[in-house]
Amino acid sequence: MTHSFSHPLFARLYARVSPGMEGRGVGEHRDRLLSGLRGRVIEVGAGNGLNFAHYPIAVDEVVAVEPEPYLRSLAMRSAASAPVRVTVIDGLADELPFPDGCFDAAVASLVLCSVADPLGALRELRRVLAPDGQLRYYEHVVSRRRSAARLQRLLDASVWPRLAGGCHMARDTGALIRAAGFSIETEERLVVRHGRRQPPVPHLLGTARARVHAAPGS
Ligand SMILES: C[S@@+](CC[C@H](N)C(=O)[O-])C[C@H]1O[C@@H](n2cnc3c(N)ncnc32)[C@H](O)[C@@H]1O
Repeated sequence: MTHSFSHPLFARLYARVSPGMEGRGVGEHRDRLLSGLRGRVIEVGAGNGLNFAHYPIAVDEVVAVEPEPYLRSLAMRSAASAPVRVTVIDGLADELPFPDGCFDAAVASLVLCSVADPLGALRELRRVLAPDGQLRYYEHVVSRRRSAARLQRLLDASVWPRLAGGCHMARDTGALIRAAGFSIETEERLVVRHGRRQPPVPHLLGTARARVHAAPGS
């Protein structure tokens, strides 16, 4: 896989601040995100590997894809102490080096805001999932409040995405998941504060399955 994905400043900042978010509800959300999973799992944009400690032991293997070199090195370290087997590889969510239908579950957490082509990435996840496979997601999304959504769009049009590793605040990720051919099984809307002085940010925590009659790539 050749790509030039590198966000050295963001990577170091995320590595520094993200462990502190675990105690502010995010750790509990990761538990719920991964609860009940089993078999072979693909996780895209694994970052520094904060999900790894939360995988249930019924999972046989996690293949964790992370394109950012510094975060990937931290993910490899985190994989070494995970309760399940985790293999960390370089790669992009929108171009997965795996055959169709080879995973029981796919995990996307705090990543679909950052991928350049979220719909492409979701279609790719659908392609590598077994027909009865499930997508688990935990993503921050556009607000339902018009004034807050306007602010989020202003941020997205500013230097924010460049500072924050490609992150967009105003993505309607729930709609993208449906547009990629998934049916939502459960979806909860949560409000998360990433820091004591941060504004509340709406998140979705959900499970989706590939719709039976939607053709891959549609
Ligand atoms: C905010 S971090 C979240 C990390 C981790 N998923 C978590 O829950 O803490 C976003 C991650 O997405 C990764 N990322 C961005 N674009 C990506 C892409 N196209 N494919 C895969 N990962 C990507 C970044 O390198 C970064 O690790």
